Amino acid sequence: MRYRATALAVLGLAAVVARPAPALAQAHVERGMKIFADSKCSLCHSVAGKGNAKGALDDVGQLPAAEIRGWLTDPEAMRKKGGSERKPVMKSFATLPKDDLDALVAYLQTLKKK
Ligand code: HEC
Repeated sequence: MRYRATALAVLGLAAVVARPAPALAQAHVERGMKIFADSKCSLCHSVAGKGNAKGALDDVGQLPAAEIRGWLTDPEAMRKKGGSERKPVMKSFATLPKDDLDALVAYLQTLKKK
């Protein structure tokens, strides 16, 4: 009985450890997609034709991850750097938890036109 419980625990642990990395990455991206919706990014941006077409992000995955993160955490600096004139300006999302920011960046990195 005891042995069986241990064997089951080991099997369970093995199943968790052996979970393929792509599945985890996929979950991370899906979380980012949800945070994108919850944060109302589409008031100023669109993805696949949904949202504000003035700020299409369909090819934003071409940007280095650090730049995408820069827009989320210090848009004022990015605005100055890139000479962006678009109004209303983007506010900072630096108060989002780090995990949420990571997920958001992971999601945005998947947005690429082929
Ligand atoms: C009030 C409007 C507004 C909101 C809300 C907003 N943004 Fe922005 N965002 C902008 C503007 C304006 C720019 C500068 C784009 C330009 O000048 O072309 C920008 C730029 C960006 C860029 C760089 C785009 C590029 O092509 O260089 C990314 C990435 C981005 N925003 C992501 C987001 C995400 C993710 C959210 C939600 C968490 C968000 N934005 C919410 C207005 C907004």
